[in-house]
Amino acid sequence: MDIEGFRRAGYAAVDAVCDYYTNLSKKTVRAQVLPGYLIDQLPREAPKTDEDFALVQSDFESLILPGITNWQHGKFMAYFPGISTFESMIADLYATSVSNPGFNWVCSPACTELEQVMMDWMAKLFGLGKMFHIESGKGGGVILNSASEAVLTAAVAARETALRYLATTEPGSTLSGDGFDIPDDIRAKYSSKLVMYGSTHTHSLGQKAALIFGLTFRAVPVSTADKYALRGDALQEVIDQDIKDGLIPFFVIATVGTTSTGTVDRIDEIGAVLAEYNTISLHIDAAWAGVALALEDQRGYLRLADINRYATSFCTNMHKWGLVALDCTLFFVRNRKVLNLALDATPAYLRYKEAETGAVIDYRNWQLALGRRFRSIKVWFVMRSYGVKGFQDHLRVGIDHCQQLSKLIIASPSFELVTAPSLALLTFRLGGAAIPADTLPAERNLLNTLLNVRLNARYDVFLTQTLLPSTDEEDVFCIRVALGGRRTTMRDVEEVWAVVVEEGEEVLREWTKTSGAAWA
Ligand SMILES: Cc1ncc(COP(=O)(O)O)c(C=O)c1O
Repeated sequence: MDIEGFRRAGYAAVDAVCDYYTNLSKKTVRAQVLPGYLIDQLPREAPKTDEDFALVQSDFESLILPGITNWQHGKFMAYFPGISTFESMIADLYATSVSNPGFNWVCSPACTELEQVMMDWMAKLFGLGKMFHIESGKGGGVILNSASEAVLTAAVAARETALRYLATTEPGSTLSGDGFDIPDDIRAKYSSKLVMYGSTHTHSLGQKAALIFGLTFRAVPVSTADKYALRGDALQEVIDQDIKDGLIPFFVIATVGTTSTGTVDRIDEIGAVLAEYNTISLHIDAAWAGVALALEDQRGYLRLADINRYATSFCTNMHKWGLVALDCTLFFVRNRKVLNLALDATPAYLRYKEAETGAVIDYRNWQLALGRRFRSIKVWFVMRSYGVKGFQDHLRVGIDHCQQLSKLIIASPSFELVTAPSLALLTFRLGGAAIPADTLPAERNLLNTLLNVRLNARYDVFLTQTLLPSTDEEDVFCIRVALGGRRTTMRDVEEVWAVVVEEGEEVLREWTKTSGAAWA
């Protein structure tokens, strides 16, 4: 494709995107295709000769779009909002137009320096303490591809911190400070004893990180009475037992805005427990909720003061509720040195003058991979287009919709809130007056599973389910509503709720017909 060909194809692509968004509200939310729909339509091998690019573009529309779940649709309320804005789409175009792997400053100085500035903009917008700012010279932020990658990165740094500490405290050790390589015998002796922690409501990224490291992940139980928040005493109990068993706690994931219910773990208590140990780092996973720290009135609820006091690292995704298209995870650390100590492997071919003199940051030493995308341009375009006020207004709309939906649920005779709105997320189930008080928990769960099956059979809405493990009652099965989508209006919320009521009443009718006997 030559430059003029690109111009033509580029304009056509923008037109196609505009048409997609113009017609989006008329589309279903979910893709109406069966498994294999696309595989059956594609050739089994790459074409032998070149094809007309206009044909390739038209195939996007005819083959790909039917298999796309419309995350930008106003009635998409599953998982989490995965917002893409026009500003971030254009930013991606610019970024790939100068495509480069950005692993160090000299690769393209603009990539590193824009990222530094953006990470400080966002740290300040979220109220993160000065130590998390690059400007401080101590900590700072880096953009990663996912919250899962952030956990892996934080855990590698936590492991090295723990092993380094153990090396200095080993009987007879002459090692001190951090300017030494961790001896192989220390690694061999302690590595397999390291344990990581979260709660039964921590995102599966905790379990997955442990799988990748070949270590144990302890999911500390939580209770309904505590609104599923991880508490300090429960964590302490599990840590005490592990230490008694000769294991070494090294990494705790506390969540600000759990996936199931949006709960905020008790970082105050967790931090106080961990302050007693030299081997444990505290990572805050605020993948979905963290962007709401931009709202000063939410900072108490989101425990910003405790994060600033205790967190070793903090992460939030701009690519969920934060108006920036995938992928854009903001990962902040209190002490950047621990990342460099854990991840700096510098062969001769990566050396250059400015890095040797310490004048610049090499982001390759702040992440797992070497190459990286130029993601900060998306943050730059979005934050300049929206401004702080526009960003905050956007967040407030989702929170307000959630409050209004919760009122509809409370007023309904057939439904009840399971968990009240946490920012823009709530959970509900069939319940209230429609279901006798003595109905067994398993039967309630079954009824709600049937509701979920019915909702999943519809294409005009998309909600997801969850199960809430708890120490003080049976696990509750319920439906989540994740609001905050850029295109979601209150009318969308009401229309989705009408669908839920319609399907719920159908489930109740069937249930009443069988007098509940079949469920007993
Ligand atoms: C609390 C929480 N952490 C982590 C994730 C996973 O994020 P990522 O896909 O960026 O790894 C999610 C959502 O998917 C989440 O809700």
